[in-house]
Amino acid sequence: MKWLFKAVWLWLDDRVGISVLLKPMKHIAPHDAKWWYVFGTATMIAFIVQVATGVALAFSFIPSSSQAYETLVFITNDAPFGNFLRGLHYYGASAMVLMIGAHMAQTFLFGSYKFPREMTWATGVLLLSFTLGMGFTGQLLRWDQTAAWSVVVAAEQAGRVPLIGNALAHFILGGETIGGATLSRFFAIHVFVLPGIMFAFIGLHLWLVLRHGISEPPVAGKVVDPETYRKEYEELLEKSGRPFWPDLAWRDVIFGTALILAVALLAFFIGPPALDKPPDPSVLDADPRPDWYLLWYFALLALMPAKIEGYLMILVPLFIGMLLLITPVLNHKGERASSRRPWAIAVVLLSVIMIGSLWIAGQRSPWSPNFQALPLTEKVIGASSGPPFAGGQLFHDKACLNCHLIQGFGGRRGPDLTYIGDKLTRDNIVIRIVNGGGNMPAFGSSLKPQELDALVAFLESRKRPIRPQDQVPPAQK
Ligand code: HEC
Repeated sequence: MKWLFKAVWLWLDDRVGISVLLKPMKHIAPHDAKWWYVFGTATMIAFIVQVATGVALAFSFIPSSSQAYETLVFITNDAPFGNFLRGLHYYGASAMVLMIGAHMAQTFLFGSYKFPREMTWATGVLLLSFTLGMGFTGQLLRWDQTAAWSVVVAAEQAGRVPLIGNALAHFILGGETIGGATLSRFFAIHVFVLPGIMFAFIGLHLWLVLRHGISEPPVAGKVVDPETYRKEYEELLEKSGRPFWPDLAWRDVIFGTALILAVALLAFFIGPPALDKPPDPSVLDADPRPDWYLLWYFALLALMPAKIEGYLMILVPLFIGMLLLITPVLNHKGERASSRRPWAIAVVLLSVIMIGSLWIAGQRSPWSPNFQALPLTEKVIGASSGPPFAGGQLFHDKACLNCHLIQGFGGRRGPDLTYIGDKLTRDNIVIRIVNGGGNMPAFGSSLKPQELDALVAFLESRKRPIRPQDQVPPAQK
């Protein structure tokens, strides 16, 4: 029996060349590349999970605006393992982003990006941007209220980019408004364009890993000198190198299996985000928020003053991307150990803290309208009859309160209007309400004249109470 297997294997191997294909698995690597080195393989394992589950989802998903939502409901509720599959794809995406983050932090802290591995790092940075692009395009395919609104918000924000804003918004939406064309476009990018590019770049990234080898764990005081590094590395491998498979790869196998298990457990017990209502552009009753790995950027934009937001929206990612790309060019030799590069530790810590706190801000998202605002009480309105009182009620009924605060009640998307009567004249208040502007919708066409009058009367009455000690005594007038 054994000879039969052997004969079949030898024949197949001779005709197909399997052992040649598997040879890279045996490449020699530093023997002490241990647990810190598992994140790259883990990223790739997460990517494979995404490809497999993505293809399975595509079997049932129809990227048309009239059917996408229905097919997702079908996948979620009726298809065997459908909900589990959506969960795998959802948590797989998160796992992939987390693993890329860990992989980048590790190669950065170990100075692995230095000579001769500059291009290994650079292709990795590009892979990060493609991965985030996958996350962004994937969210719309969920095609429910939240997903659709997130993209509308993104397009609105992109529309504010100077010069190219309109073209950019037009490109994102595939037209003037969100619709079938948007969905087709996101689907094509999500399943053809980006995965195709990613396969190519993962291949290139792996080729470079083989070409330059895995960096040896850094030792303080042992500097990278482009003149001698290659020779030293080869000597090191000759002295103590081990074949990646099987001597070193078992750690990757264990960690990768644990990762898949964690994703599967989350998918099974918690499940994918529940589908929201189907998208309806006429209902602004959504909480458009991207998934967590893009939330921090969304928060950054929302917290920025509206005037510079347009510039920063493009400049911030461009700047971070450029900085990451040129890191190995600026800094390609010298110490690798992070104990001798304290700034490297600071950069990683600062990035984590910044992304973390922006993420928390994004969770609270004080800038999106507050749809739970309750009507103002007579006490807050400061009147129980007449136009100011009617205006105070309209302020809730016309949804002004969703975006504006009055004495701490309402939403925070727009400015606090508690004391707006001190700041704006009657005419200016009218102009603001009728014309809108900035993120304020124009209400000119949706308010009857007497409603506008009542609203203005209410806002005009919003003045800081005069405290007794501020009153000017009559005698001194
Ligand atoms: C979708 C959220 C939103 C809604 C709804 C909304 N506003 Fe606004 N409002 C804003 C924003 C944002 C601004 C700031 C605009 C800017 O200048 O950039 C603003 C500005 C204003 C201002 C000028 C404030 C200042 O300090 O200059 C007034 C007055 C105002 N809104 C009244 C109203 C009234 C009355 C309603 C209801 C009829 C209303 N808003 C509904 C978001 C909103």
